[in-house]
Amino acid sequence: MVMGFEQVMPENTERSACLVTFGCQMNKADSERMAGVLSALGYRMTEECDSADLVLFNTCSIRDNAEQKVYSYLGTQARRKHKNPNITLVLAGCVAQQEGEKLLRRVPELDLVMGPQHVNRLGELLERVYEGEQVVATEPIEILEDITKPRRDSTVTAWVNVIYGCNEGCTYCIVPSVRGVEQSRTLEAIRKEVEELGAQGFKEITLLGQNIDAYGRDIGTNLSTLLRHIHDVQGIERIRFATSHPRYFTDELIETCAELPKVCEHFHIPFQSGDNEVLRRMARGYTHEKYRDVIARVRNVMPDASVSADLIVAFPGETEEQFLNTMTLVEDLTFDMVNTAAYSPRPGTPAAKWPNQLSDEVKQDRLQRINRLVTDQALARSQRYLHQTVEVLVEDSNPKNPDQVVGRTRTNRLVFFTGDIQGLRGHCVKVKVTAARSFSLSAERCLE
Ligand code: SAH
Ligand code: SF4
Ligand code: F3S
Repeated sequence: MVMGFEQVMPENTERSACLVTFGCQMNKADSERMAGVLSALGYRMTEECDSADLVLFNTCSIRDNAEQKVYSYLGTQARRKHKNPNITLVLAGCVAQQEGEKLLRRVPELDLVMGPQHVNRLGELLERVYEGEQVVATEPIEILEDITKPRRDSTVTAWVNVIYGCNEGCTYCIVPSVRGVEQSRTLEAIRKEVEELGAQGFKEITLLGQNIDAYGRDIGTNLSTLLRHIHDVQGIERIRFATSHPRYFTDELIETCAELPKVCEHFHIPFQSGDNEVLRRMARGYTHEKYRDVIARVRNVMPDASVSADLIVAFPGETEEQFLNTMTLVEDLTFDMVNTAAYSPRPGTPAAKWPNQLSDEVKQDRLQRINRLVTDQALARSQRYLHQTVEVLVEDSNPKNPDQVVGRTRTNRLVFFTGDIQGLRGHCVKVKVTAARSFSLSAERCLE
């Protein structure tokens, strides 16, 4: 099947590319690198997919609804391609990796199917497409050190991948099978990227890994060492990292964060369940007591730290009582934010094959109950900022009100206040909080 045959890359006319990203920060970072490749190839980036010459979907497979969304988008593009065979259709990311060749049978209009490990190879893969090949790139590879310049969405904050893949085997999770084994970038390569970001005027970086605490174990270093290694980079004022795994969250890391002034007091540490039997069947490798201890140790050293998490309700076989243990954990620990999800069976994962799957009614009921709790808690956590002065790094204008700008506190709360983005973008300013909502604050500029 050689659908791409008629495709030519015209020399003189500019082609436009539309890139749509689903899923997590990892995918957003990958998209910025792919956008960098497309720009270097001469593509003009556009948000109008229905008129673009190249459409790339960077997909997520974490839950079934994320996956299904992609198929509906793809259907629209496939129909468009019937009228205009010169359109190039690319499916990247986690669904691409999960489905591989099968996608070509389902959507024969696709020109390129590429897994997350192949992001840096987009240019050469497209070359093959233009030579008439229909390409599937999903074989595991050693990820090449990146030589492309990402086209970043922000000029203030930037993602920096530090470890790819995941070696955990959580029984519900598709990530290890679509992202491959852990591969850490070297301290030097990361420092070089951060230095470039500092020189370009970026103020905040977020170090990324699915299990960031695993950073370095394949190359004989660790996350605390990395934080120290990059801390003095000029221009960078804030350093964040995500996602942390409770099993590996060490005292050394907590002390390092407390000691290094640029490292922000915000920790994203998913717990998934507050019940030990469920945690065991999830193969998370810790108990709820251990998790509580991690949070207590963080708060002991950094009392104002914000803590966010992820949890799953209605894991196969979860009883009402076990669900209530999750509710209790949330009640006891008071989170700043929690991403909640109902369990969704994923292809090839152990838990998907278990017979004790719960009904949609149970899933929705538990999700609603827990969502009420986490929203109320987030509001209580926001209210502690009321009438306080906080430092905000301004990122952008408020898309809903151009007279306002938006930024985040060191603890990662969104803050809106009246101001001119031209003069404020990239600046850390002091503001006084005037209103608190669950997930954002309003404030007034302090006159210094
Ligand atoms: N590496 C991180 C998170 C990875 S995926 C960690 O270990 O916590 C992001 C979140 O999606 C997970 O924390 C989990 O809460 C959720 N998730 C993953 N697989 C899921 C599934 N099959 N059904 C529902 N939620 C899921
Ligand atoms: Fe998935 Fe577990 Fe790895 Fe997180 S640590 S990405 S939940 S397997
Ligand atoms: Fe989704 Fe892949 Fe991230 S499955 S959550 S985009 S690692």
